[in-house]
Amino acid sequence: MTRIAIYPGSFDPVTRGHEDIIRRSLAFADKLVVAVAVNLSKQPLFTLEERLDLLREVLQEFEGVEIRWFDGLLAKFAQKNNASLVIRGLRAVSDFEYEFQMALMNRQLFSELETVFLTPAVDLTFLSSSLVREVAELGGDVSDFVHPAVGRALAEKFA
Ligand code: PNS
Repeated sequence: MTRIAIYPGSFDPVTRGHEDIIRRSLAFADKLVVAVAVNLSKQPLFTLEERLDLLREVLQEFEGVEIRWFDGLLAKFAQKNNASLVIRGLRAVSDFEYEFQMALMNRQLFSELETVFLTPAVDLTFLSSSLVREVAELGGDVSDFVHPAVGRALAEKFA
């Protein structure tokens, strides 16, 4: 049996934290679908195409990873892709309430879907795409937090 996991998110942009979670997921998933959400209530900095391109570049060395986008409900997308697991990174207690609700709602919508929470490497726990965007916008050095391709894309956005 092939165990398919989905790692959904906005990836605006992908960070070293996401890469770390993806690496950890591949230890137990046969195939990992990195799924970029289209319908975001917030206006993303990077377009869908840009986010997908960055993921393709950053994850090119990773085997067993497929990069896709999805619109609408994650539970439906998971079902369509025969996925049994949703991967989410948990960095702090503050993440927990929203993630817990989302995991229960997703299982309510698709009963065979389990959510697996992974903790990133401790030196990445403070990292988020929104903080990376802010630091980059204000001229800070983000090279420790993102792949060089993402660093270049951020520099171009805020040039
Ligand atoms: O990286 P993010 O912004 O924390 O990702 C949130 C995301 C995209 C995983 C979440 O908003 C989501 O699953 N959206 C799809 C719509 C959906 O299924 N909503 C019901 C969730 S219970």
